[in-house]
Amino acid sequence: MSIALESVSKTYQLGQTTVHALRDVSLEIAQGEFVALTGPSGSGKSTLLQLMGALDQPSSGEVRVDGQPVSKLDDRELAQIRRDRIGFIFQSFNLIPVLSVFGNVELPLVLKKLPRQERQEMVHAMLKRVGLADRAHHTTEELSGGQRQRVAIARALVTEPSIVLSDEPTANLDSKTGEEILDLMRRLNQEQHVTLLFATHDHSIVAQAGRVVSILDGKIQGDKSMVNTG
Ligand SMILES: Nc1ncnc2c1ncn2[C@@H]1O[C@H](COP(=O)(O)OP(=O)(O)OP(=O)(O)O)[C@@H](O)[C@H]1O
Ligand SMILES: [Mg+2]
Repeated sequence: MSIALESVSKTYQLGQTTVHALRDVSLEIAQGEFVALTGPSGSGKSTLLQLMGALDQPSSGEVRVDGQPVSKLDDRELAQIRRDRIGFIFQSFNLIPVLSVFGNVELPLVLKKLPRQERQEMVHAMLKRVGLADRAHHTTEELSGGQRQRVAIARALVTEPSIVLSDEPTANLDSKTGEEILDLMRRLNQEQHVTLLFATHDHSIVAQAGRVVSILDGKIQGDKSMVNTG
């Protein structure tokens, strides 16, 4: 699935001050790309991901998903796109503390109304892939930061989305786990042509991405395609 921002600006009102989080950003990401989004803290990375994931509306400009303007979609269509096609891994994870690891990963499948048996199989397979099979019945509050991050990753991937938007996907992981998660994501990209857009400071992600977009003060500073030998 392709996502495009067309002359998108996003401002936040903080009391009397207007924060310009994105300024006239145009960016198109095609199906199957692996894009790293880099930039210093406060440059607008999370804001850009939220708009690309149709989680928020721009102040001006248009967001298009597969060519369709997001502003023209009704709530039901938007909810369906978010649920079925976009995997979002938030910087703060947004896990549900009263649910178990299993329950958190199962949630999007419950929303899709998949039968219980099928849900269980998918969740168990996914937890195995992120190395959390033995933590399935713990609550997320009993987990380390890196384990929580892997729950968030499992929850985003379990629905087999066509695009994965991830805010610092490896920030809380030790280097070995980070490499494993990155391998998993890269396989999804290479074998299933899942589009990846990662906001990241991680050099190993930047090195593996097919394209690196850099942002500063809400503006795109650079957009480079890499020759990737895999
Ligand atoms: N909800 C909000 N209300 C007000 N200002 C906001 C809000 N969200 C972000 N901002 C501001 O918008 C700018 C861009 O923020 P954003 O979170 O997109 O940056 P970032 O590149 O993701 O930073 P980091 O690397 O620290 O996560 C910052 O100046 C930030 O303070
Ligand atoms: Mg951020």
